[in-house]
Amino acid sequence: MDTTSRSNKGRVSSRVSDRSERGYAIVAMDSPADPVNVGHTLRAAMCFDTRLVVLANADPSIDVRRLSTDPGRTWRHTPVLSVIDIFASLPYDCTPIAIELTEDAEDLVDFQHPERACYIFGPERGSLSEETMKRCDRVLKIPVSLPLNLAATVNVVLYDRMLKMRRPDLQAGGNNTRTKR
Ligand SMILES: C[S@@+](CC[C@H](N)C(=O)[O-])C[C@H]1O[C@@H](n2cnc3c(N)ncnc32)[C@H](O)[C@@H]1O
Repeated sequence: MDTTSRSNKGRVSSRVSDRSERGYAIVAMDSPADPVNVGHTLRAAMCFDTRLVVLANADPSIDVRRLSTDPGRTWRHTPVLSVIDIFASLPYDCTPIAIELTEDAEDLVDFQHPERACYIFGPERGSLSEETMKRCDRVLKIPVSLPLNLAATVNVVLYDRMLKMRRPDLQAGGNNTRTKR
């Protein structure tokens, strides 16, 4: 079957992409200090098909090629950048999202993920700076009473994205029959 057509503006393809999902996710870590967390994060990035990992001001002792918690050696398959300014590495039309447990942050439960998103995570012993959060288009929290471990947060956010991208029909509470009575 001919899947292309010609117009006077040139060749136009009507072929449909065979990618399973639209858009992409980038994971950015701001000032990570613990190689265990960086390894778990790289592993999550590979498992959830993240297109890029950005490490800003990581502890100099962290060697992404040798992390016991990243046995798949993610750097071989997913680009890993070391940068000073996360925002300088943002691709065109990608939404920066600060992941931080603040009172005003949007709740992950009701969050609809942008097609092109860069999720920015803070350091283990601290939080994202006010300046970083202001430079982000959105601030997002996992609604729990105490902060989660950094790498656990990465896994939860990426899983939530995968679920909502694959099952846009799922609404918050939609599967809980008790809320329907
Ligand atoms: C372990 S937390 C930092 C510790 C925390 N600031 C504290 O008060 O103990 C490291 C990072 O994980 C992310 N994080 C942890 N729990 C989170 C949550 N419930 N919602 C959103 N981000 C969270 C944030 O990016 C945070 O900067």
